[in-house]
Amino acid sequence: MKVVILQGSARKKGNTARVLTWVEEELQTLGHEVESIYLHAKNLKGCMGCGKCKENPVPTGCIQKDDMPEVMEKVVDAQLTIFSSPLYFWGFSAQIKAVIDRTYSLYTNANQPGHASLVDGRRQALVATGAGGFDENAEGMIDAFGRMQKYHKTVNAGTLFIGSCTTPDAMDDAIRQKAVAFARKIVS
Ligand SMILES: Cc1cc2nc3c(=O)[nH]c(=O)nc-3n(C[C@H](O)[C@H](O)[C@H](O)COP(=O)(O)O)c2cc1C
Repeated sequence: MKVVILQGSARKKGNTARVLTWVEEELQTLGHEVESIYLHAKNLKGCMGCGKCKENPVPTGCIQKDDMPEVMEKVVDAQLTIFSSPLYFWGFSAQIKAVIDRTYSLYTNANQPGHASLVDGRRQALVATGAGGFDENAEGMIDAFGRMQKYHKTVNAGTLFIGSCTTPDAMDDAIRQKAVAFARKIVS
């Protein structure tokens, strides 16, 4: 399976990156083709809400000139996209949120007859880390991710939230095992 990881933390060696490394390693062991995109290094602007992409709803339909088309093309091309983010103020990091908002260009006629999506039927998964626990903390992000998928017409392959994070080196084998199990699940 062709897999794209959208690395949504600016910290290249942070908690989210550590979990993603374990997920990626397992996916590769299983024989999947994985590409990881470090979003912070890209020029990715926020959605302007102008709606021009609805007149030309292809990955390159946005009027803004930045690196988003190459990201969107990879998302459309992949069978599975793993979105990822540190939990920032109960939500997504700015880097991954920019991508999520710009996926507005991927579908038309949402929740109406003729609802079409360029990622219809693809798998999507979410990996997130936070300093706090899940309750009264991560629910909003997980909920928003699921709601987004209804517009994308995608399959929720799985979500993994690792809470109580301090440093990557403090992550123990139990967390690694969760990441490995998650990797196996999202491709099965
Ligand atoms: C701006 C900011 C906001 C944060 N907000 C939350 C939050 O709402 N809930 C939480 O559990 N952790 C929060 N944290 C902690 C990070 O989510 C946590 O340390 C995460 O594992 C960092 O991932 P990274 O190392 O990949 O950047 C926040 C950290 C920052 C810098």
